[in-house]
Formats: sequence, structure tokens, C-alpha cells
Amino acid sequence: MTKKPKEGVGPWAKEKLDALGEYLGFYTKVLKNQGWWCRGTIFVDAFAGPGRAKVRTKLKAAPEVSLFDTEPAADAEAVEYLKGSPRVALDIENPFSRYVFIERNPERVAELHALAEEYGETRRIVVKEGDAATELQAILDSGINWKHHRAVVFVDPFGMHIPWSTLEALARTGAIEVFVNFPLGMAIQRFLVRSGDIRENWQATLDSFFGSPDWRIHAYEERDGLFGAETLKLADSGIRLLEWYRGRLKEAFGHVSPGRLIRNTQGGHLYYLVWAGPNKKGLDGAQHILSKGDRVPPARGRKLTIYG
Ligand SMILES: C[S@@+](CC[C@H](N)C(=O)[O-])C[C@H]1O[C@@H](n2cnc3c(N)ncnc32)[C@H](O)[C@@H]1O
Repeated sequence: MTKKPKEGVGPWAKEKLDALGEYLGFYTKVLKNQGWWCRGTIFVDAFAGPGRAKVRTKLKAAPEVSLFDTEPAADAEAVEYLKGSPRVALDIENPFSRYVFIERNPERVAELHALAEEYGETRRIVVKEGDAATELQAILDSGINWKHHRAVVFVDPFGMHIPWSTLEALARTGAIEVFVNFPLGMAIQRFLVRSGDIRENWQATLDSFFGSPDWRIHAYEERDGLFGAETLKLADSGIRLLEWYRGRLKEAFGHVSPGRLIRNTQGGHLYYLVWAGPNKKGLDGAQHILSKGDRVPPARGRKLTIYG
């Protein structure tokens, strides 16, 4: 039986959304100062979600409980709503001239249409129901003149849903920045089983996500064992894959930020936020914002290039 996904988002989503909001505020202010405001600036939320999410939090037991309390204080669900990334982007001080929200789930698409109506007077919003990679390619094929446009694409899937080829195509415009969720703990490590004997369809997903089969070199090592050659998973495979991916982003876009680790409430590693783009100015802002969280831990053993 498949487990029903939990409703709502974890409290750590706030850290991601605060970083996104801070970066978009920085970016649009820079563009405004350069005379770009209100013309040719686009925000694309490629995995938009519903626009608002219920946060899963547990209330702590109250230190003193009155005899007259009728509500159970310990472990009750606290209802708190968080602005999702579309609202975060819509509410920045210097808005983008256009917003595109892409989402595959029809119920979330309906919520995004309601959001578009709510902001319809003041913002130009298009909601696209479909697959992020397909819709991003459609935007690239739509004839936008990238000499006169600038865009930020937020790539925030639950798993490895963005093929490397899509990021390369965005980079080729020379005008698009990406703010990417690198789903190391949430997806990638789950596919990289200890034995190295990975199912064929998982291998295909990893190949498409990284745009190369070389993820294997960064995650595993072949050694001579007692019974012949054996495959060992590297203890620091996660950080090696992150640095390799960042190196590839740097090659494609020109600049890349450090990865900011987002953890769950138990300290478990969920994902890294990484920015990549064509301008040094953008890097300065992203570097400042994304360096605030956990720092990338040092690698052990084999040589590792840290891009930074
Ligand atoms: C992590 S949530 C997005 C959360 C949102 N960015 C936020 O911070 O408020 C990922 C969303 O992507 C959607 N999704 C999953 N696969 C997709 C795909 N291939 N194309 C477009 N949307 C997809 C899911 O339905 C889900 O709403």
C-alpha cells in the first residue's frame, strides 16, 4: 500500500521562502536601479504549488495547565498558514512585470487561478497547467527577445523533476537566473542505494537530472575485495554530488552560489538551495543570502573541487 503524502508543509519551508523573498527583493531592486523596472522582467515559478500552505507544527505542552483548560495543549496541531512561493514573489516591493506559475496538480492549479484573480488588478499573471520542463521549453520557444527581458526561474520540485537539459536551455538565453532546490536528502540519496545496484528506471532519472551518467563516479568507488571487485558508496557522496552539480551550473550559467542546506526539525538534511545566473551582481546578492544557513561541510579523502 502506498503511503498517503502528508498534507501541508514542514516548518522548514519558511527558511526556503524567506531566502527566496530576500533574493527576489534584492534582484528587482537592482533591476529597478538599472532602469529595468516595469518592463521585461519575468518571474517563473516552475513548481508553484498552491500559493498558500498549511504548516505542520506540533504545539509544545503548556508549562502550566489550568483546571479549566478544555483544549488539549500537548501535541495538538497548531494551524498556521504560510505564503507559498507565488505569493512571496507577488508581494515583493518592486514587482516583476510578468508572472508565470506552472503546476501539474489540477487542484493546486485551481488555487493558483484564484490567486491570479485576487492579484489581477495589479499584477500580470499566467497560470499554466502541465509539466515544468515542457512549459519552460514552451516559454523559451515563444519568441521572447532576451536582449530586452530578464527572468528568474524558481525550480522547487519534491524530487528530480527538472532535467539538466532544461537548465542548460535556460542558461543559453544569457538572461535567466535560476533558484534551484537540489533535492539531495529528499530524493537523490534515496535512489543511491548502498550496494550500487540501482534499478534501471532510477538510473535513467539520475542520468536525466544530472545530464550525465557520471553521478556514479561521484557517489561510488570500485575496490578489490576478498571476493573480487566490489562497489562501495562513498561516505561523502552527497557533498560530492552537490559540488559537481554546482560546477556544472557554473559552467552553464557563468556564476553559482554556495548551497544553503535546509534541514527538517530533527536536523535531517532535506535539500540545498542554489542560485545560478549570468551576472556577478546577482551572485553577490545570492551569495550573501545563501551563505546564512549551514555551510558546506569539508569533503574527506579524494580530491574535491569546491566552487565558490
Ligand atoms: C515543493 S512543491 C512547491 C512548493 C512551492 N514552490 C512553495 O514553496 O510554495 C512542488 C510542487 O510541484 C508540483 N509538481 C510536481 N511535479 C511537477 C512537474 N513535473 N511539473 C510541474 N509541477 C510539478 C507538485 O504538485 C507540487 O505542488
